[in-house]
Amino acid sequence: MDAEKSIAAGLEGIVAGRSSICEVDEERSELYYYGYSIAELAEKSTFEEVAYLLLYGKLPAKAELTSFCEKLEQEMEVPDEVYDVIKLLPRRTDPMDALKIAIGVLHTVDPDSASNENDANIRKSMRLIARIPAIIANHYRYAHSESTVKPKPGLSIAANFLYMLRGSEPGGFESNVLDKSLILYAEHEFNASTFAARVIASTLSDLHSAVIAAIAALKGPLHGGANERVMEMLLEIGSTENVEPWISNALSNKTRIMGFGHRVYKKADPRSPVIKGLAKELSKKGGDDKWYEMSEKIEKIMNDEKGLHANLDFYSSSAYYLLKMPVSIYTPVFVASRVTGWVAHIMEQYNDNRLIRPRSEYIGPERKAFVPINDR
Ligand code: SDX
Repeated sequence: MDAEKSIAAGLEGIVAGRSSICEVDEERSELYYYGYSIAELAEKSTFEEVAYLLLYGKLPAKAELTSFCEKLEQEMEVPDEVYDVIKLLPRRTDPMDALKIAIGVLHTVDPDSASNENDANIRKSMRLIARIPAIIANHYRYAHSESTVKPKPGLSIAANFLYMLRGSEPGGFESNVLDKSLILYAEHEFNASTFAARVIASTLSDLHSAVIAAIAALKGPLHGGANERVMEMLLEIGSTENVEPWISNALSNKTRIMGFGHRVYKKADPRSPVIKGLAKELSKKGGDDKWYEMSEKIEKIMNDEKGLHANLDFYSSSAYYLLKMPVSIYTPVFVASRVTGWVAHIMEQYNDNRLIRPRSEYIGPERKAFVPINDR
């Protein structure tokens, strides 16, 4: 290899492949799924429509959507083996770890597990999209010694998730907010977890293994784990009055403020204004504007002092808190949405595959002769 190749730390700015699924326009701070803008999708579609779009590359006609939702409903029952294994886990098990284990169990009982044909992968993807919300909600219920709640036919994925989590049906507004959030989280080009999934798919390993790798990547606080850390920060700050001293202390200690900055968007994250508006509506309707007010104050400080913008995770946190969702499942909810983008990329990789195997520049010790252990 030529010496002194310039290395892009973290592959920053490196175009690692071609994809038809998602366009991130960092200059104009715009985002498109198969050419449809995220603003329009969030405003005018549902998460089920977006899931269909990501799986098939086109928005469904009415009859197609009806049949798609029927298929999801037929698959949403979680196999007993998954809950049997979950009940063997310590109750304190991290929900993201439980999710990785549950997906592994789903693979062992999936009738299509031996096939990497596109139709089989579509069926496996549908089962994952349909079952992951129930697994998240019921693992949380198990961890808090509550009984399992099965998904209810006729409810959307968002409404069913809140129903299973709470044990009672949510209102339309709350379901709608979560539905929009799932649209925003669904897909984002070659982010770390999606790229991890594509690397696994490029070895022709199976779809479930690629999704498990993606969950492992998303768990990290620099990626999907940020939404939980944002809420932990807001709870630690505790009041609007304490925002300024807390944040300036954190910044003077070079602490990362979770929910800010982005590897690609150096201006605004186009998803942030959408979730910010939903968080504002929730805080008004719930009569609890503390968390939203605190968030706005943090956002202003970070903009003014660091030139950093809120990413999708920042206002998602207060929105989820106002939906009365436990902080520990914010990142699993990200999985329930992003699994649609992951499976789209996994199948795209299978359909035009080449093993992903970059090189590294050697900077280790000089070459030398072996020294037998008695002479060391
Ligand atoms: C997601 O890639 C995707 O698409 C991801 C995602 C998706 O939809 O899949 O959008 C979802 O992961 C959003 C990001 C969630 N993570 C966080 O909110 C964690 C906090 N953010 C940072 O750690 C950071 O901004 C990253 C990881 C998101 C991006 O980091 P980069 O591109 O590697 O930038 P960097 O670490 O080199 O930082 C550049 C400068 C540094 O200052 P200097 O050391 O040069 O003086 O900006 C500073 C950083 O210290 N900086 C921050 C900061 N983020 C960057 N300073 C304080 N707080 C922050 N959050």
